[in-house]
Amino acid sequence: MDVMEAIRARRSVRRFLDKPVPQEAVEALIEALRWAPSAGNLQSRFFYFIFDAGIRKKVAAASLGQMFISVAPLVVVACADIERVSRRYGHRGVELYAVQDAAVAVENMMLEALELGLSSVWVGAFDEAALSAALDLPGRLRPMAVVPIGYPAHSPAPPPRLEKDDIVKIVG
Ligand SMILES: Cc1cc2nc3c(=O)[nH]c(=O)nc-3n(C[C@H](O)[C@H](O)[C@H](O)COP(=O)(O)O)c2cc1C
Repeated sequence: MDVMEAIRARRSVRRFLDKPVPQEAVEALIEALRWAPSAGNLQSRFFYFIFDAGIRKKVAAASLGQMFISVAPLVVVACADIERVSRRYGHRGVELYAVQDAAVAVENMMLEALELGLSSVWVGAFDEAALSAALDLPGRLRPMAVVPIGYPAHSPAPPPRLEKDDIVKIVG
């Protein structure tokens, strides 16, 4: 699959088959995370790969009750490493770079998931304190995204997109 094909084909999927994600696929997802760009190449991010059904349920409950999350065989929680980024970049690093470092890695992972026949969805609506408690996160890690991953049980239609002129100004 070429890159543009993957970008266009990716859909947020919220229903998953009861089929585990193979170990080779897990390794490929991790590799996609590793190779994302990051501010100063500090890679100020950390990821939890959650297979345990009980913890997946807790993560779903912390995600404002979006229980479809717990149905996915794998739930990745992407965190910003606030401590690592703040040592070099201070406030801007914490407020901006660490968030971006985590986000760009997640997009890499979501596209690689597609290549592997898997689907995913970015979940941003969660109670930060509840999610941190569910995973017993150390203080240096701030959760940024919850990403359920699994084999899709449906094929959503393409959602609408704004037109080119609504999002781009060509200068020069
Ligand atoms: C920052 C962010 C937060 C999101 N939060 C949620 C969420 O909490 N629950 C959910 O089901 N989808 C969530 N989504 C997925 C969006 O609803 C989805 O990307 C959007 O509707 C476009 O659909 P598509 O991903 O299939 O292109 C989120 C996406 C982003 C980027």
